[in-house]
Amino acid sequence: MSLATSTAQLTARIKLATTVAQRDGARQLRKQVFCGEQGLFNGDDRDQIDTTALTLVAIAGPDGEVIGTVRIHHAGDDIWWGSRLAVACSARRQAAVGSGLIKLAVGAAQALGCRTFLAHVQQQNVPMFEQLHWDPLHDVVMHGRPHSLMRADLSFYPPIHDADIGFTCSRDGA
Ligand SMILES: CC(C)(COP(=O)(O)OP(=O)(O)OC[C@H]1O[C@@H](n2cnc3c(N)ncnc32)[C@H](O)[C@@H]1OP(=O)(O)O)[C@@H](O)C(=O)NCCC(=O)NCCS
Repeated sequence: MSLATSTAQLTARIKLATTVAQRDGARQLRKQVFCGEQGLFNGDDRDQIDTTALTLVAIAGPDGEVIGTVRIHHAGDDIWWGSRLAVACSARRQAAVGSGLIKLAVGAAQALGCRTFLAHVQQQNVPMFEQLHWDPLHDVVMHGRPHSLMRADLSFYPPIHDADIGFTCSRDGA
């Protein structure tokens, strides 16, 4: 049984993808979520941003199964963006995996000089981002779906200098 379908308590490590297996796992999860589940892209969600973006992952279990991912990229000056946030279906709302990925995304970018961190957030996820101290700037339609351009309040996201090591998250917040 895959970890993403297990009912056992979930503990995940949130970190920079540092191996081919972690990057491949992230690519597969993105395909599963954005092409399969959401139907936002036809067959492949990769784009030009992937040539420069850093991939972050949430891994769990003895085999380091990738159960979450997000990417971050530098857009000039001190502006960074996050995109393609995805958590495996059955790992959602269990161990703060999505929140952990957002925390590492913004913290790692801050450690690299970010002073403005932005994301186009799908409308149904705006309450989650607001809860995590993001401010909506304006609405926009992307890939035919309503999104909100949102900005992270960096005062809630200290810089994270060791993204390659990362941190763990679990249901009890450990
Ligand atoms: C959005 C997503 C990444 C959230 O991942 P997750 O691991 O379930 O998120 P967390 O467990 O960290 O949730 C953090 C908080 O937000 C809440 N939350 C999660 N998804 C939410 C939603 N869609 N709307 C409102 N609140 C939400 C959780 O209940 C939790 O609140 P709590 O701390 O009070 O319990 C995941 O649902 C997903 O991959 N969705 C499909 C792809 C997608 O929509 N990507 C984002 C594009 S912007």
